[in-house]
Amino acid sequence: EPITAHDVRFTSAEPWVAGDRSAQSRVFIKNGLIVNDDQSFHADIYIEDGVIKQVGTNLVIPGGARTIDARGKFVIPGGIDTHTHFQMPFMGTVSADDFYSGTKAALAGGTTMIIDFVIPQRGESLLDAYEKWRGWADAKVCCDYGLHVAVTWWGDQVAKDMESLCNEKGVNSFKVFMAYKESFMLEDPEIYSVFKLCKELKALPMVHAENGHLIEIKSRELLHQGVVGPEGHLQSRPEEVEEEATSRAITIADQAGAPVYVVHVMSKSSANVIAKARREGKIVFGEPIAAGLGTDGSHHYNKCWRHAAGHVMAPPLRADPTTPGYLMDLLANNDLQLTGTDNCTFNADQKAIGKDNFTRIPNGVNGVEDRMSIIWEKGVYTGKMDPCRFVAVTSATAAKVFNIYPKKGRIAVGSDADIVIWNGEATRTISAKTHHQAVDFNIFEGLTCHGVPEYVITGGSIVMDEGQLKVTQGLGRFVPTPVNSQCVYGRVGTRDKIRQPEIVERDPYTGPVVEIKEED
Ligand code: URP
Ligand code: ZN
Ligand code: ZN
Ligand code: ZN
Repeated sequence: EPITAHDVRFTSAEPWVAGDRSAQSRVFIKNGLIVNDDQSFHADIYIEDGVIKQVGTNLVIPGGARTIDARGKFVIPGGIDTHTHFQMPFMGTVSADDFYSGTKAALAGGTTMIIDFVIPQRGESLLDAYEKWRGWADAKVCCDYGLHVAVTWWGDQVAKDMESLCNEKGVNSFKVFMAYKESFMLEDPEIYSVFKLCKELKALPMVHAENGHLIEIKSRELLHQGVVGPEGHLQSRPEEVEEEATSRAITIADQAGAPVYVVHVMSKSSANVIAKARREGKIVFGEPIAAGLGTDGSHHYNKCWRHAAGHVMAPPLRADPTTPGYLMDLLANNDLQLTGTDNCTFNADQKAIGKDNFTRIPNGVNGVEDRMSIIWEKGVYTGKMDPCRFVAVTSATAAKVFNIYPKKGRIAVGSDADIVIWNGEATRTISAKTHHQAVDFNIFEGLTCHGVPEYVITGGSIVMDEGQLKVTQGLGRFVPTPVNSQCVYGRVGTRDKIRQPEIVERDPYTGPVVEIKEED
């Protein structure tokens, strides 16, 4: 039976919530400033059985509730990280943060839901890969999670699996790769087919936009010229290569009549392409990530190999130091819409697979723990966004795009009790020595951020309590994401009618026709 938005919106009222999460089920948050994406207001919140039961003043609270005084603090929906790769098999190894350390770190930073990517190998069934990821995640997650599925090859069986994933498995988004020629890359006609099918299924196509053919050629040239270090990674994938693919992906989606979501927007020029396409009426979403908003690509040239390799991800962090501020400006003004992290971490010994050849350095950086603080520091503390916009770009818009709003991404009666009590003035200094991630490196090392989660509540459980973290492995749940998100597909039907192909009624041509001579 297909999963509908209605089912998903009310899953929090299903019996498992009461059964499994009732231990510390009653929480009363008083005196805080509640911030949603559209308004902020002073009110109290009463939570029971993992759900927000009351929001208002002078609430009548049943006995036995834990009371938290949030005076002077912001009370915000828990963050939703739209883009993680926990325990991902990639480039010959497996990313260091798994679904336990990854979601634990997420919670430590004020993120209460992550959406990870199922990545099938070429030829592997999408459904089998999905079940594999579900198995890995269900056993370990400390917070709720959803799944996107990558389409890394194309055929009739893939199309059937995509339909089953949408109708039976709670998946509403599919990522294609225009890069990684040796493993995941699709060609334009295949991408068109995937986008077209997504449109029929009312699922959201996502794209890793970089020109994989050019990257392969440039990498070979650079290695030939003796550039073997991490600086070669950056030089093999210039901005134009991301910009061109972004533009091509948007064109292919628009020709297929589909919306498109560009993951990990890393450059000014590709962000500009997205902003321009939106002004032209194309349905495009752009996702900058914590790494691109919080640091830059100058680190590729660092004398310390591990430091430089620690910053290798794709598309690369850009050498232009004005990039992070520019991406934040566009995010603040809705040219870009929401944020993830692309958290995909590798320890020193894993990065070292590429010690003599930058093309073998496993691609990926951290972010899941630090995203909220980075955006507060670089976005809110700089005066670029107000707290409502912060909520929009860290949770509410993600919930809308992936069609789980207002179950997630909003503080309201009936919504899941995923709540963060956020101190906007307190600071913390980021370091691999103190972070909760398993990886031995942090790209934000030494950065002091305003904005600290003091309490984090996930599914009604207080997991960060006055700054003390106490999570439970397996406490999180898979959150099905239903197709046909209003904010993605709301205008597509009408647009299709307007765009019907034209046929001109005319008398047939009756004159002579030259004979085509068959060559032998
Ligand atoms: O470098 C990256 N981005 N690693 C993860 C895989 C991907 O392309 O998202
Ligand atoms: Zn990618
Ligand atoms: Zn170093
Ligand atoms: Zn990714």
